[in-house]
Amino acid sequence: MCGIVGVIGREQAAPLLLDALRRLEYRGYDSAGIATLLDGGIARRRAEGKLGNLAAVLEAEPLPGTTGVGHTRWATHGAPTERNAHPHATARVAVVHNGIIENHAELRSELEAKGARFETETDTETFVRLLDSLLAEGMEPIPAFAAALKRVHGAFALGAVFAGHPRLLLGARQGAPLAVGFGEGEMFLGSDALALAPLTRRIAYLEEGDWVALTDDAARFFDAADTPVERPVVQTAVSGAVVGKGNYRHFMEKELHEHPAVLGDTLRQYLDPKTLAVRLPRLPFDPATVSRLTMTACGSAFLAAHVGRYWIEKLARIPVDADVASELRYRDPPLAEGGAAILVSQSGETADTMAALKLLKEGGQKILSIVNVPESTMARASDAALLTVAGPEIGVASTKAFTAQLAVLACLAVGFGRARGQLDATDEARLTHALLQVPSHAAEILEKDAQIRALAAEVAKARDVLFLGRGALYPIALEGALKLKEISYIHAEGYAAGEMKHGPIALIDKEVPVIALCPSGPLFEKTASNLQEAAARGGRVMAFTDAEGAAPLRRFAEHVIELPTVGAFSAPILHAIPVQLLAYHVAVLKGTDVDQPRNLAKSVTVE
Ligand code: G6P
Repeated sequence: MCGIVGVIGREQAAPLLLDALRRLEYRGYDSAGIATLLDGGIARRRAEGKLGNLAAVLEAEPLPGTTGVGHTRWATHGAPTERNAHPHATARVAVVHNGIIENHAELRSELEAKGARFETETDTETFVRLLDSLLAEGMEPIPAFAAALKRVHGAFALGAVFAGHPRLLLGARQGAPLAVGFGEGEMFLGSDALALAPLTRRIAYLEEGDWVALTDDAARFFDAADTPVERPVVQTAVSGAVVGKGNYRHFMEKELHEHPAVLGDTLRQYLDPKTLAVRLPRLPFDPATVSRLTMTACGSAFLAAHVGRYWIEKLARIPVDADVASELRYRDPPLAEGGAAILVSQSGETADTMAALKLLKEGGQKILSIVNVPESTMARASDAALLTVAGPEIGVASTKAFTAQLAVLACLAVGFGRARGQLDATDEARLTHALLQVPSHAAEILEKDAQIRALAAEVAKARDVLFLGRGALYPIALEGALKLKEISYIHAEGYAAGEMKHGPIALIDKEVPVIALCPSGPLFEKTASNLQEAAARGGRVMAFTDAEGAAPLRRFAEHVIELPTVGAFSAPILHAIPVQLLAYHVAVLKGTDVDQPRNLAKSVTVE
């Protein structure tokens, strides 16, 4: 996926590019690099690993020049070494690239046959060599760039600077986002508005297939057929203020502690605390008559959608299909006439979710997205977008954005239930009242930090961990397992409690913690008996429950953590917090890089 940035500046480009890369590090952090133009030539600094390594290189060997490009990488083709780090360059051109050039092998053979000598295994270098060969034939940068673009297939965004053209920066977008920032006598290019926001608030987005030529104070946009086009300049609402960790050790810890505030802010958007009524903006479909909903997303956002499915089916009686976007996009499901889709995404940039959006739109579905970034590609491509008010989430593993997604979905489920006459005003008031208690319950749960840390000390010793839940807590068991895997690298599985005897029970021995989400309520007895089956086989049961569930579970469970007593409706939001906190503490004990776990990226903009 990677983050790209470019500048034609008035001051030194390298510090500014480095700063912008810090805001793009969520897109990848395997290696990073910067190239600037100086004295008719190109100079580069690159470093393997986190951005801090590049900063150290630049400190030791500063890079002059006012025009340049920068890149933070999440490796797709070629190992994350310095040699494979971007920018890729020849003496004539330097290129940064986000995405994948799918026909790179074919282009490489063609260029090698003509005598090109490749230095890396990257797909990006094929574009650089192609461009270089056109420049060598005497073409000017702009026509050469336009011609080279016609030869590459895939989903990508590109930025390029050219030796001997100190006030020229070219960019292209095909399947990966790219924004242009307008400064005073300066121009910027970046993967998103966040990268550019402190530099300028005046942003224009490239449309699919567009490319752009930036000079000192102008941007000329062209579509895929090279026809000049206008792209509106908007005043971005995104704040580029560098988000600090405050007194917290990690962004993830800080973000976990923001749960109460974020839940309160998000719920207030969609609930009226005075009337206890759900307050939804205009939707692109009528929930009273919609025939079917398709819900899709990736990673934790999909697990939020999965909970949403339980809620919407139960409260509104709308049939819902929920699938991960990477499957949905190729499954080619029959889509219902009069149907609609709900997409969930923190970043609003995830490639598979965007591809699913396209498929659903082409299939005649109205698109409602739940996103945390108002100007994201997904928000702009949807018929309507509902915002989570989570603020920037920096930790790669989603925490507060996930519970904020749940909060929006809970409001939607109640609103849909009312619209379809499945819920009356009393039901609505009861459910919204329960939701309005969630922020204060979230704060109570965070006070259990010491208990959860003690539990983490046990879990940290394990090689395998099982998370169990039933009903709408089943996706939260999956979230617990996903979070633990992501940041502590301990193998974990989430299972529907009733499925345990169909396989995972074979894993159970005294080494395997079985972490159960088991509050009192109609499903309590069922889950408790599954846990007893695990305990009877030597399994170490650790349970999150409430006051009523605690006593019976203590008879056989090794650890019981009591959470506030809430109804089944809001339980998934509240149970997400302790499982995330548990994963956090386990990761800290294991000494992993909590905010930037290995091999992951916050926003997955490649397939
Ligand atoms: C990555 C992140 C996850 C996130 C998923 C979907 O895998 O590490 O935390 O849930 O992408 O991202 P999105 O931005 O679409 O919510």
